[in-house]
Amino acid sequence: MDKLIIHGGKKLSGEIPVSGAKNSALPVLASGLLADGTSRFRNIPDLADIRSMMGLLSELGANVKMGPDGTVEMKVVDESNSYASYDRVRKMRASICVLAPLLAKRRYARVSMPGGCAIGTRPVDLHLQGLEALGARISLDNGDIVVKANRLKGNKIFMGGPFGSTVLGTITVICAASLAEGMTLIESAACEPEVVDLANCINSMGGHVAGAGTPRITVEGVESLSTCEHTVIPDRIETGTFVVAGALAGDRLKICGCRPEHLIALLDKLDRAGVNIRTGEETIEISSKKHPAAVDVTTQPYPGFPTDLQAQLMVFLAVAAGNSTVTEKIFPDRFMHVPELNRMGAKIRKEGQTSIITGVKRLVGAPVMASDLRASAALVLAGIVAEGITEVLRVYHIDRGYERIAEKLNAVGAEIERAVE
Ligand code: EPU
Repeated sequence: MDKLIIHGGKKLSGEIPVSGAKNSALPVLASGLLADGTSRFRNIPDLADIRSMMGLLSELGANVKMGPDGTVEMKVVDESNSYASYDRVRKMRASICVLAPLLAKRRYARVSMPGGCAIGTRPVDLHLQGLEALGARISLDNGDIVVKANRLKGNKIFMGGPFGSTVLGTITVICAASLAEGMTLIESAACEPEVVDLANCINSMGGHVAGAGTPRITVEGVESLSTCEHTVIPDRIETGTFVVAGALAGDRLKICGCRPEHLIALLDKLDRAGVNIRTGEETIEISSKKHPAAVDVTTQPYPGFPTDLQAQLMVFLAVAAGNSTVTEKIFPDRFMHVPELNRMGAKIRKEGQTSIITGVKRLVGAPVMASDLRASAALVLAGIVAEGITEVLRVYHIDRGYERIAEKLNAVGAEIERAVE
């Protein structure tokens, strides 16, 4: 296992590029199972989770290969295996993305039921309710979800759950409905940019998805979907992570190839904290501010403040002037980073789904343990701004979702080494 050793206190300046969005690329690749012809997906980041999805797709009968420029070509050549095993799903929850494409195209799928993970229990009941409403027969066998159907039939589906809309649940229903007979109306759909990206991808295969990006999506089913050319959007969470890095340690750090409009909630919070931010069409330039003001944050579905940036913003608030609160409304238990940040001198107290943060003058380096992808990114940010040396252990979490993060940050002035744990 590798660890990252971070020499803190360095300023970040210059240009840092953003990769394609992991959380778009995963369902987009899975949607290639719906197409009859060859799909060409561009701007796919080279990440452990993407390799894992490509491995799964190849087990499911696709010829799938990644070129050096982030282009993935995919063509299904054998539809005989429709099983995503526990071994696949436990390594990557997003394996659930193949369920709907397999069902819609092959009329049968067997996908191991995802369990909980470090950020919470994470049920898939809304995915299954959506598929059932389209006519799927669903059973649970030996820990596997088994779904069968004749051709699916369009329906009206309400996707709201106890924590709001569901991103991958909405994507599941769009994929299934795209090959169903007739019209599907999804109410309370997730509005995340990744849903819009997936809808655009299906439309480029010849599908008819309208309204993506709003809570009401319609899908007019078609008989078949054909070849596809699609470029994945820039990763808004990687962008946001670099924005927070800039707010902590930036000296005109310029984030390039991003979509500032996808980060309104984060930019608004940092603006209120007094940080200096300049946005261009595809760039965000940011410099740190001494003693920024504390701000309160609540995570919400898009366009609210993203849960995937909660841990990173907490590092910023840990060294802001005054008290702040962070309330987690999407994954109420997603606070595994709190004790690790406290090991570095932060003053954070958790009460239920809220963390109360008393800003301190400085963080100090320490060995810390990554618990999940975004918590790991937060610990890297903490290491950059801390005095002394921070070691982030279990760095495989970060490799799942950040492409070459150490190289990218080192190129703008950070000092991060990779070593064997
Ligand atoms: N939920 C249900 N039932 C369901 C599905 C979800 O109750 O059937 C609940 C969840 O437990 C949660 C809320 O609904 O409380 C929202 O979860 P959602 O379904 O939107 O999450 P997801 O689609 O499984 C994606 C991202 C996550 C990100 C969330 C929220 C991917 C591969 N994952 O998960 O990303 O946190 O949306 O924005 O797209 C990450 O990248 O680190 C990550 C965890």
